[in-house]
Parts: sequence; C-alpha cells; structure tokens
Amino acid sequence: MSQNVNQPASKRLADYRAPAFLIPELSLSFRLVPTATIVTACSRVVRNGAHNEPLVLDGEDLELLEASINGQSVAVQQQPGKLLLETDLDEFELTLVTRINPQDNSTLEGLYMSDGAYCTQCEAEGFRRITYFLDRPDVLAKYNVRIEAPVAFKYLLSNGNKVDSGELEDGWHYACWQDPFPKPSYLFALVAGDMDLLEDSFCTVSGRNVKLQVFVDKGNLHKAHHAMASLKKAMAWDEHRFGLEYDLDIYMIVAVDFFNMGAMENKGLNIFNTKYVLADEQSATDDDFHGIESVIGHEYFHNWTGDRVTCRDWFQLSLKEGLTVFRDQEFSSDVGSRPVNRIHAIKVIKNQQFAEDAGPMSHPIRPEEVIEMNNFYTVTVYNKGAEVIRMMHTLLGEEGFQAGMKLYFARHDGQAVTCDDFVQAMQDASGKDLTQFRRWYSQAGTPQVSVTDSFDTDAGIYRLQLTQNTPQRPGEPAKLPLHIPFSLELLDCQGNTLLNEVLDFTEAEQAFEFTGIHTPVVPSLLQDFSAPVRLDYQFTVEQLLVLMAHASSEVARWEASVTLFSQAVWKNVARLQQQQGMVLDNRIIDGFRGVILSDGLDHALAAEILKMPSVSTLMEQVSEVALDALLCARDYVVDSIATACEEEVLARYQVLHNIDDAGSRAFGNALLTLLARGADGHEALLERQFYHATNMTEALGALSAAVEGNSDCRDALLAAFEQRWNKVPLVMDKWFSLQANINAPDVLQRLQQLQQHPAFSMGNPNRVRALLGTFAAANVAQFHRADGAGYRFMTEIIKQLNSSNPQVAARIITPLIQFGKLDAQRQQQIRQCLQQLLALPDLSRDLYEKVTKALQA
Ligand code: TRP
Ligand code: ZN
Repeated sequence: MSQNVNQPASKRLADYRAPAFLIPELSLSFRLVPTATIVTACSRVVRNGAHNEPLVLDGEDLELLEASINGQSVAVQQQPGKLLLETDLDEFELTLVTRINPQDNSTLEGLYMSDGAYCTQCEAEGFRRITYFLDRPDVLAKYNVRIEAPVAFKYLLSNGNKVDSGELEDGWHYACWQDPFPKPSYLFALVAGDMDLLEDSFCTVSGRNVKLQVFVDKGNLHKAHHAMASLKKAMAWDEHRFGLEYDLDIYMIVAVDFFNMGAMENKGLNIFNTKYVLADEQSATDDDFHGIESVIGHEYFHNWTGDRVTCRDWFQLSLKEGLTVFRDQEFSSDVGSRPVNRIHAIKVIKNQQFAEDAGPMSHPIRPEEVIEMNNFYTVTVYNKGAEVIRMMHTLLGEEGFQAGMKLYFARHDGQAVTCDDFVQAMQDASGKDLTQFRRWYSQAGTPQVSVTDSFDTDAGIYRLQLTQNTPQRPGEPAKLPLHIPFSLELLDCQGNTLLNEVLDFTEAEQAFEFTGIHTPVVPSLLQDFSAPVRLDYQFTVEQLLVLMAHASSEVARWEASVTLFSQAVWKNVARLQQQQGMVLDNRIIDGFRGVILSDGLDHALAAEILKMPSVSTLMEQVSEVALDALLCARDYVVDSIATACEEEVLARYQVLHNIDDAGSRAFGNALLTLLARGADGHEALLERQFYHATNMTEALGALSAAVEGNSDCRDALLAAFEQRWNKVPLVMDKWFSLQANINAPDVLQRLQQLQQHPAFSMGNPNRVRALLGTFAAANVAQFHRADGAGYRFMTEIIKQLNSSNPQVAARIITPLIQFGKLDAQRQQQIRQCLQQLLALPDLSRDLYEKVTKALQA
C-alpha cells in the first residue's frame, strides 16, 4: 500500500518548470467494480512549446491494460510512479485503460470505498491513483465523465452538470457529467452510492436558480439541515461581502464516514467528512454546529479562491488555503461573534502554529522544499497563511483589500497562479508598497517582538521602543525585518482610552513617540493579535487588571487574562524549582472573580476567559520546559481560583444554567468545570446537568467537567453515555476523546481496551483521531509520562498506521516530533521511538520526511 522508498527525493520550488505538455480535454469513463474498477482515460494532449521531450505521466498503484495514440496501440515505458511515452506528434489523442482496486484502498486517496459507497479524494496527488496523468495543478482540463455501476448504486455523481443517464444491461446504469470549467486533476471527484438526499435551492444575486443537494448516509436526513442552512448563508455572504456569485446550476455536498481531512472543494461536488455535515441538538454540541458552518463556508468559498483561480504548483498552497481560511473566518465573524472567533483563531496560532514553527517541520507559508505534499497541509500554510492575508487586510483596509480581490480575479480567473501574483494584485489595486511585506511568504519562524516603554511626565511624552527578531535556524539565511502592522491602544489607569492606532513596524528596532500624554499609560499591545508574532513586554499585575476590565477590544481583555494567568503559573514553576511553596496573589483571584460576577461581559467571552490557558499554550511561551513543575503549577492556579471563588461560581452557575443560548451554555459549562475542580467537587450538580440535559452541549459539558475533575461519578456517567450513544459513531468519538484525556496512570490500559470497543476501528481516521490523536495531542501529563510509556504506546500505533494510512500516521505523530523544549531524559526516550520508526522496512514517505527531520534536530 504505502510506497517503500528508502530515501525519497524532495522537490524544490526553485526547480519549477512549466509542463512539457498540456491536456486541455479529458474524457474519463469508469466501470465500477469493488476490487477491479476499469478506468478509461482519453486525453487530448498538446505539446507545450518546441522541444522533443517524451510525455511523462504520473501514476501510482495502477495496472495498465492498454495504451494507444490516435487509436494505434503504442509502446510505453513504466518507471516507479511514472509512465513514459515517446512521440513526435505535437497534438494527439491518448487513450489509457487501467484497473484499480477501490475496495482495498485503505489510504483514502484516489478512488476508495466508504461504507459501501465509492468516493474519491484527489488533492493533493491522489488523481494519479485513478489513471496516469499530468497530476499537477497547472494542467487544466475540461472533463467529460461517464460512470457505470449496478443500479444499487443509486446516485452516480461527478463535477459540473449531468448531461445524460440511463439503463444498461444486467442491472447496471450510467450517468454522464460535463464540467464546463477547466480544472486541475486535484479537483476531480466521483461518488457512487445509495444515500439519503436533502434538496433545496438558492437564487443568486443575478437571479439564477441553483439546485443544492446534500447527500448523507441513510437514516441521517434529519441531521443535514444545519449544513444546508449554512451553505445558503455562505452563498449569500460571499455575494454580499466579496461580490462573488456561484457559477454552476448545481452544488452538491456528499458526507462520508471515511475521510482523511475535514472536507474537499471539488468543483460542484464537495466531499465532506460526516463530522462537518451531520448535526442535531441531541447529538452535536454548539461547537460542532459552528464547526460545520465554518467548514461548509470554507469549501464553498474555495469555488472562487481555489477552483476558479488555482495554484500554479503545490508550493503555492497558501494562495488558496490561507486566503480561504481568512474568508471563512470573516464569514464566521460576520454571522456570529467576531471576538470569540478571533480568540479561537489566535489559539490555533499560539498553541499549534508556534509549536510547528519551533519544531523540526518549521516552514514558511510558501514552503521551498517538500518530500510528501500531504505533510504540508499545515497550520502554517493554512492558519499563519490566513494571518498574512489578514495583515494585508489591516494594511489596506476593507476597501483597498476588496479592490485587490477584484483585480486578482480580473487578471487571473481561469488560471493557475502564485502567491506573488496575489500580492501584486493587492499592491497594484491599493497603491500600497508590499515589497517588504512579501518576506512573510519566504521566512519561516515566529518573530519575537520585544517592547519597552518610558513616560516623560514633564514633556508629556510616552515612548515605545520596539525590536523584532526572527530566530535563525542552522542552514537558514539571515532573517530580515518584517513589515508588522502593530495595533495599539493606550489607556490611562482608570481604563479610559487615550489613543487607538496601527503602527507600521518595519525596522529591526524602531521607536515611537506619543505626545500630549499627561498620565501614566497602560498599553494594549498587538491588539487582536494584529501580527503572528510572540510579544514580550513586562506587564504589571495592575496593568493587566486594567486591560482585563477596560480594554476597548474584547480580544485584548481575554489576552490580558491569559497573560495574568500565565505569569502566575510561571512564578510558581520557579518557586517549585527552588523548593518553595506555591502562592497566588489575591489580586489575580479577584481579576477572575470579576469575570465570574460580571454583568457587562458577553457570556461566550466570559467562558473563553474562564477556560484558562491550556498546558500547550503555556508550553509555547518558553524555550525549555520543566514539564512536571508546569503541570503542578497550572493545577495549583486553576484549583486555587476555583476554590477561592467557589461561592460566586456556584451562584452564577445556578442563575445561568437555564438560559437558552450558546454563549450561556459555554459560560455555564466553564463554571461547572471550576465547580468540579474546587474543594467540594459538586458531584450532585454534575449528575443533575448530565441526566437532565436537553442537548449535547449540556450533557458533554457535565461529562467533561467530571473527567477534568476526576469526579467520583465520572465512570458512571461515561457508562450511561455509552449506553445511549453506542450506535452513533460521531458521538462515540466524543466519548473516546474524553477518555483519552483522563489524567490517570491507567489511561494506557483504558486506551488499549477502547481499541477493542465495537465502535472503534483503526481503519477510520475519525476514530483514530478521537481516541489516539487526542491522547497524544491533549493528554500532556500522560503522553509525556516520565517512564516513556506514552511515547512507546503511540509509536506502536504509528507503526500500524504507516502501512494502512500513511497520511493519518504522519498527522498523529506531531506531538512526538516536537520535543525540542523537553528535558534530556524525555528527549532521549522519544529519539529511541523515532529510531524504531526509521528502521521500518516499508516506512512511508510521509513518515520518512517527519522522522528524519526530527532526528536531525
Ligand atoms: N483542500 C481541502 C481543504 O482545505 C483539504 C483537503 C481535503 C486535503 N482532503 C485532503 C488535503 C486530503 C490533503 C489531502 O478544504
Ligand atoms: Zn481549504
């Protein structure tokens, strides 16, 4: 299954060459048989420029049955992953017949089967598992597709419009699809199966009627309505905010159970992980509902930023992904809470992207060298990429940014282009010089911005001294200063706003002066995380309390609470290391008490503040971490706040808990978690909320509070939950995740037992991520156990997945390769595990790339 390559080669951006041939048209015909599907591909091939090179096509795990040029059988040369054809012709018709085995395709790339239905996943390089082709995004073809299958496969779907269908002999039928828009092979899709169908329609601004279809597994129709409503919202929003209208007469979404990622933007036929489609209040949480809205939006927005204008090569992935994440974030913020959405996006950068950038897989948002492309669908390319787009939006303003988008589409509609083309359109449309700004595309690493300030009382001048520095790693060129939009609010000590502006911070060291300031200043720095950098400024507790209560930006209030909490944790880490007892300043407790009692604060925001920074957030703040002391100090600070504020928490919980909106449910759940962690434990309250819950948000809130509090009722509640939900895989994922997070030494045995549970399957990526991915990524205390048992457990899992699904294996290995800040003993244990993986005889390219980079570090 996986490629056995001893030393897989890397590809470089610097080596990009235009394709030697183009394929403007492709006819594909499928005869679907589970273990022996026949694919006939008929390409019109055109030589690109004057040269005598052979035609070299990509292909993986294919059995070639026939090859002909203009109807004449032709000799071909097969090399690993390639097919070579020598010809003098400048234009010809190439017909290739191949046989593939969707049934046994456990990689979930190319054509495979999910619960009895056929489906495809071609991004990034999966099309080459369907037929030999120029499988690269700068080869754009018009597709004609014919699908034949037994009539039991009721729906036969592909991209574009259905142009023909009918009966065949022996209980078979067929359908033909035509996509009028030329597209790269990674956007091809096919689905064949019997599903339930939810239909609706959308009338576009220009008055065209678009048919909308959502296909789900039988029996799940009632769970498809939120996805449909989200799609209609997304279509209206893209017209309104970006002036972009849908371009085909039909838009289809198919939800499948077996899927490596979240969803895929195939032209006119999106394929989704069921996790991002199916929801009702009984089985899905408020967060699930938001996740669906955001991913439905994301894939829909790709229709323009991805499909109509695509990437020239895979190094340009952020062209479509960074931009589309920015667009989906804006969508969620316009239809929901802007500050809460911003906080979620900031957390992804600070917890995950900073870690990636400090680890062995660090890369710029436009990578320069890649072994396995699947390894570069990263938080750097997607989420830091979105931050880079957001900075341009900040620098240009909404109007300048929209002018840039218009020019981008005017220039590049129907083309495969580069990140540079995008920035150039932004620059030309706005007149803003983005020369220095472009360094964000080529420099990896997280810039460190240090701030000092001084106040000249007599002159009424406040001075800010900013320095920036991006760490340079071995082998990297020296890092140059970046163009950083630095958003700033100055407040007085009573919390009144003195000034609000965005500084253009472009030099390694730069000073800014503010005159007419006659009172001591509290600075709110890098407001709303105006650039993806680490900020270093010595805030006093008083300043943070002012910001927490009064900063104009709600995100800045949350940031202040994170800093306040973090300072308390690090202070206690230091005390533990000096064998001193732990302490917590009453002013800090009062700061959080203020949030618990506050009337003015939005409930969803209060919930975010009361969740308090996770261990991984804290780990990202330092370059070396004493893990045991950190875990101990964090528990101490949370428990101290929970215990000191118990009365207020209880009172607030009791008023809140009957208010019926998502923000209040989130606030209520955060309070319940504090109650579970406090001195009393409040078992009765946990049980009451769990057993009387009218929706999943409340039930899961109680259950997860019981897990976090290691409450006596925990196992009884878990058992009751299983009883009720054991037939619903997506809900069982929540149950698996919760248990993977239990902080107790026997969690490894529990994980082993759960792998035997009837609802678990190593072949399903959602199950694997829920149970095993969660353990490695979220259960810091047990995964990083000092005896190394957590590492060894995950290594065995990764070995299994290496051969069945290398993509998933390479994703869940992440916590095992980011070991740079751990102590020497843990690093040594991890290295031994990685050595074992490296010694595997059939190590996939995906794992090879990550393991070798980690071991070199
Ligand atoms: N383009 C998809 C998205 O961001 C990502 C994706 C879906 C993907 N499936 C994949 C990427 C498989 C790599 C491999 O919406
Ligand atoms: Zn995407």
